[in-house]
Amino acid sequence: MPNPFDFTGKSVFVAGGSSGINLGIAEAFAAAGASLAIASRSQERVDQACERLRRHGGKVLGRSADVRDFAAISAALKAAYDVFGEIDVLVSGAAGNFPAPALGMSANAFKSVIDIDLLGTFNVLRAGHQYLRKPGAAVINISAPQSFNPMPLQVHACAAKAGVDQVMRVLAMEWGGDGIRVNSIAPGPIEGTEGFRRLSGSAEVRQKMESRIPLRRVGTLADCADLALFLASPRASWITGALIPVDGGWSLYGGGLSSAQMALEAGAAPGR
Ligand code: NAP
Ligand code: COA
Repeated sequence: MPNPFDFTGKSVFVAGGSSGINLGIAEAFAAAGASLAIASRSQERVDQACERLRRHGGKVLGRSADVRDFAAISAALKAAYDVFGEIDVLVSGAAGNFPAPALGMSANAFKSVIDIDLLGTFNVLRAGHQYLRKPGAAVINISAPQSFNPMPLQVHACAAKAGVDQVMRVLAMEWGGDGIRVNSIAPGPIEGTEGFRRLSGSAEVRQKMESRIPLRRVGTLADCADLALFLASPRASWITGALIPVDGGWSLYGGGLSSAQMALEAGAAPGR
């Protein structure tokens, strides 16, 4: 019986794939045999990530592109299609975040996160559709608990990620007939990432958080990558339109318990 988690001969595109959770996902697919294309704003970060991905022995392509720019992300997707052929797995994970109260956030600050997370995801999926394998492609959005749990200091990310998940649900309906599955992963706090550094900060906050996570630990890159591999595999062939948390049960506590709020309570200043 073929290994459902062998991605040899498949091609994977990861938007925002130059670091953190998204790079962890890209590496897992590279290790599973896939050809990888990644894009993010900084060419330097893209190049560094590509070097890392090449260690797994497969084909790797990196392009600088801002997901807010439809033409730029379209060009990056076309480049991947031209080299690898139809895209089997499309991951949309570019995001921006910083903790700030609504009154400490300019309209442009709110818009910058909406544009990267929500408009960016629309752009990646809208531009990507023509290059996806039909039938068979899997689209995975990287969401967050902010999508369904309101959190102080996170009005931009809460609004943006809720939108990201509605985009996911609508496109799961519109694209199901093409044989394309569209799902979202909502990671809890993942150690060693920029998001964790920005929102969770100190060892004290981490300890406080871990005591409130049902499984009593923060997450790892591998926790997220394993779920992405599963969602892209034939074992998930009847799953579409789903938002799946990978968070040790953290989100079961519901709204208001943001790590950023805990950091604030612990004396950290929100903002820059
Ligand atoms: P990260 O390392 O900062 O990842 C963000 C990536 O997006 C970077 O590669 C960045 O590269 C890219 N990016 C940012 N703006 C972009 C733009 N306008 N166009 C193209 N690429 C852009 O952060 P992370 O913490 O791993 O977060 C990754 C994803 O997981 C995000 O979707 C985040 O919301 C989600 N998440 C994270 C956590 C966590 O604990 N870390 C929890 C829940 C959800 P450039 O700077 O080169 O553009
Ligand atoms: N508090 C309040 N406002 C802030 C802020 C903070 N900590 N950080 C940035 N802003 C505001 C800026 O002042 C600006 O508003 P203004 O024009 O009214 O002054 C607005 O946000 C946009 O900032 P800018 O730096 O021009 O945006 P950018 O598009 O270059 O960068 C960010 C986007 C701000 C989200 C930046 O942090 C980023 O690139 N993040 C990517 C990495 C990341 O966030 N990773 C974690 C993912 S979970």
